[in-house]
Amino acid sequence: MTPTTPERRSEPSRSGTWDPMVRIGHWLLAAAFVTAWIAGDEYQQVHVLAGYTIAVILLVRFAWGLFGPHNARFSQFVRGPAAVVRYLESLVRGEPEAHRGHNPAGGWMVVLLLVALSVQVGSGMTLYALDEGKGPLAAWLAAETPSDAVADSVAGARGSAGTNEREDDEHEGHDDEEGALEEAVEDIHEFGADLLLLLIALHVAGVLVSSLLHRENFVRGMITGRRSGQ
Ligand code: HEM
Repeated sequence: MTPTTPERRSEPSRSGTWDPMVRIGHWLLAAAFVTAWIAGDEYQQVHVLAGYTIAVILLVRFAWGLFGPHNARFSQFVRGPAAVVRYLESLVRGEPEAHRGHNPAGGWMVVLLLVALSVQVGSGMTLYALDEGKGPLAAWLAAETPSDAVADSVAGARGSAGTNEREDDEHEGHDDEEGALEEAVEDIHEFGADLLLLLIALHVAGVLVSSLLHRENFVRGMITGRRSGQ
């Protein structure tokens, strides 16, 4: 079983697979995710801080995917269905196509992970704003939503007075909408956590299986920047 690729034969690796930004970002991301998961509802401050850390890592990674070095760019590893099928066929034949960055199937798993993590962070921040009136989205949501519940939360969080009784009556209906919105966002956040666990399990399994099939240590690539054999 010999990995084949014109890419590898014609372009020997001088710079390794992953630059320090991708590697440090990856392990920080993994650590922040584990921290957010363990902290859960119980240690909210820790959970929120881990969520913000993930948000910053994602922003940097998206910018890096556009402007970073060759292997880190989305244009390099987000490939069409034909490339994915060709890669999967090469696995079945026992002659896995070698790619210096993400392979075409792995590239889509990376996109799924990044998108799912973004939705998770976005729903978390929205929930924090709706529920507690805190976080970067709180002021914006207070201005945008018809309900004054967020505004109350923001005012409460800032220590100022909430709305008066007449305003409370006027906005009761809107507060029901607010409750429904909050519940929907909470459902997304909870479902997202389970989905991410599944995606991460598939991601780690994929990494281990492809390391075996390619006879390259992919985990080492994410630690030192170079897979074995480079
Ligand atoms: C023990 C746990 C983990 C291991 C061993 C691991 C290993 C790896 C490896 C080897 C790669 C590079 C794959 C390749 O060479 O194509 C990678 C990429 C990636 N992993 Fe993990 N991973 C782990 C946990 C996680 C977790 C928890 C997350 C998300 C929270 C995650 C998200 C990602 C992402 C987004 C990439 C793409 C990196 C990039 O292009 O910036 N990984 N991982």
